[in-house]
Amino acid sequence: MLVAPIVRLLDPQPGQIILDGTVGLGGHAAALLPRIMPGGQYVGLDLDDEMLTAARKNLADATGVRLVQSNYADAIAVLADAGIAQVDHVLLDLGVNSAQLSDSARGFSFDRDGPLDMRFDRRSERRALDLVNALSETELADLFYHYGQEGASRRIAKRICEARRSGRITTTRVLASVVESATGGGGKLHPATRVFMALRLNINQELESLERFLESVTGLLRPAGKLAVIAFQSLEDSIVKRFLRTAKTAGTFRSLTPRPVVADAAERACNPRSRSAKLRVAERLTGAS
Ligand SMILES: C[S@@+](CC[C@H](N)C(=O)[O-])C[C@H]1O[C@@H](n2cnc3c(N)ncnc32)[C@H](O)[C@@H]1O
Repeated sequence: MLVAPIVRLLDPQPGQIILDGTVGLGGHAAALLPRIMPGGQYVGLDLDDEMLTAARKNLADATGVRLVQSNYADAIAVLADAGIAQVDHVLLDLGVNSAQLSDSARGFSFDRDGPLDMRFDRRSERRALDLVNALSETELADLFYHYGQEGASRRIAKRICEARRSGRITTTRVLASVVESATGGGGKLHPATRVFMALRLNINQELESLERFLESVTGLLRPAGKLAVIAFQSLEDSIVKRFLRTAKTAGTFRSLTPRPVVADAAERACNPRSRSAKLRVAERLTGAS
């Protein structure tokens, strides 16, 4: 997604090091790798072992690639293991992959029936069904409101607690229909969109990882190094925007995208998900500590 603007704005050069915190299937990696060769290194992280297996296959012919199952928020430790203290470029393409969304067994999508799972990292214990079945009505309402910006959060939480009396809610379809019965449907978005997003963000601690990563990114980048982040929803984008505003005041970063870059008409036509994507790129200023 937004591959051409990323390549243009990062403008990687032979011999440079790129940290890709969300390597997914390796789509961005495939476009960026030729730019840093010869001599470059590409460190790709993902929490999802299935994505890493696919990325390994897709990038099998490339040299200088190191793929590690890790939270990007722990990038400093992963890079230290590889003997790398600083990198030239950092890329985060946040959120869920279309390959994850379309796999019903992963439970990310209300369109497909599957277990209410939603974990990127399947080594972790907590799944979406644990939240849905264990949280109190108030806790559920707060979760849907804060992480999903869901206006009908109280009504939905109440309806979930009523439905739980007849048994645990363990599948995406059942949860989607309970939410629909609380809101009545209608509108442009599927009624369960925000509830599913809230559960996914919370289960994977996505906003917290982004905050934690941004706290350390200045030290991770070489002077004149670049940071590129693609956000898919407003909570993520606000965190990035706030970080860049503070960094500008502190003199540590200069924005290269005064307005976020969005997908062009051709990309939006062939990939509807790209309509919500916002890319922000910034350069670390020389002399910043
Ligand atoms: C939108 S996809 C990235 C797609 C990728 N840029 C490509 O070209 O294929 C986001 C990926 O980030 C991973 N992910 C989400 N949060 C993560 C985190 N905190 N640390 C590492 N990977 C994460 C997901 O598992 C998913 O594969």
